[in-house]
Amino acid sequence: MEAILDQTPEQQAAASATFTGTLTDKLKEQFEAGLLSDPDLKHDFTIAQPLHRYTDADHAVWRQLYARQASMLRGRVCDEFLRGLDTLGMDADRVPDFARLNDKLMAATGWQVVAVPGLVPDEVFFEHLANRRFPASWWMRKPEQLDYLQEPDCFHDVFGHVPLLINPVFADYMQAYGQGGLKAAGMGALDMLARLYWYTVEFGLIRTSEGLRIYGAGIVSSQGESIYSLDSASPNRIGFDVRRIMRTRYRIDTFQKTYFVIDSFEQLFEATRPDFTPLYAELRQQRTLGAGDIADGDLVLQAGNREGWGDSDDI
Ligand SMILES: [Fe+2]
Repeated sequence: MEAILDQTPEQQAAASATFTGTLTDKLKEQFEAGLLSDPDLKHDFTIAQPLHRYTDADHAVWRQLYARQASMLRGRVCDEFLRGLDTLGMDADRVPDFARLNDKLMAATGWQVVAVPGLVPDEVFFEHLANRRFPASWWMRKPEQLDYLQEPDCFHDVFGHVPLLINPVFADYMQAYGQGGLKAAGMGALDMLARLYWYTVEFGLIRTSEGLRIYGAGIVSSQGESIYSLDSASPNRIGFDVRRIMRTRYRIDTFQKTYFVIDSFEQLFEATRPDFTPLYAELRQQRTLGAGDIADGDLVLQAGNREGWGDSDDI
């Protein structure tokens, strides 16, 4: 049975504005903290990775997180991710030098990592992706933030996102996403497209002959969610469906209530190839779904038992 929240298109637009508002507030905060007034900041919000600013503590945090995730992810993350880590020769002991990663990455798929001081405006982000540049926060989380932090740091961005950019199909998907984002921005459809990013690039699972595997960067960079997403009886696991995902709100403050499962990266790329213009118009007329809802037509791999689900609002 489809449980839907009674939300009108106007309320959805308001929710979307709140989302944008959050980003605007964050950018304002960054500006006031001097991050966005750095004289070295370029017009595209990138800076040269300030390698000299990493402290021993930063490298130690990287080392600790890398060791923890690399060993835990064996048998949990998809093979393509592990191959990417290998091909990149990503440092286990210290924060990687982006230029050295880029030598391997550029040769493989033409992508590169660029350093940014923090979150960047949506359109800047999309412009980077559309040109095969992945903006990565250069700074590392503090030792007391090993398990959770609100904003993406260098470990999340580089360890979580960059290995899959070695995979040609996923690399194309990310570029197409950026191109789609530039288009969606002019159509008031960013909320729907953000959900697609969230449920694939950040929190996606993939079905393989050896069982479910992780590919989303938000999971890959989190010890707790690497276990929860695959093993817990609490969340829903539902077959990938673009239209369904674009209607589904999500959680930014807890583990996900629902994970969407792809069969292959080709499926992901093909499903998102068509022009979304008519889809946005159609979906805008429909109600959104809550993060934990199960809807008619879902391919339900697991209906979560909802244990531990919070009551706070999805976005
Ligand atoms: Fe991310």
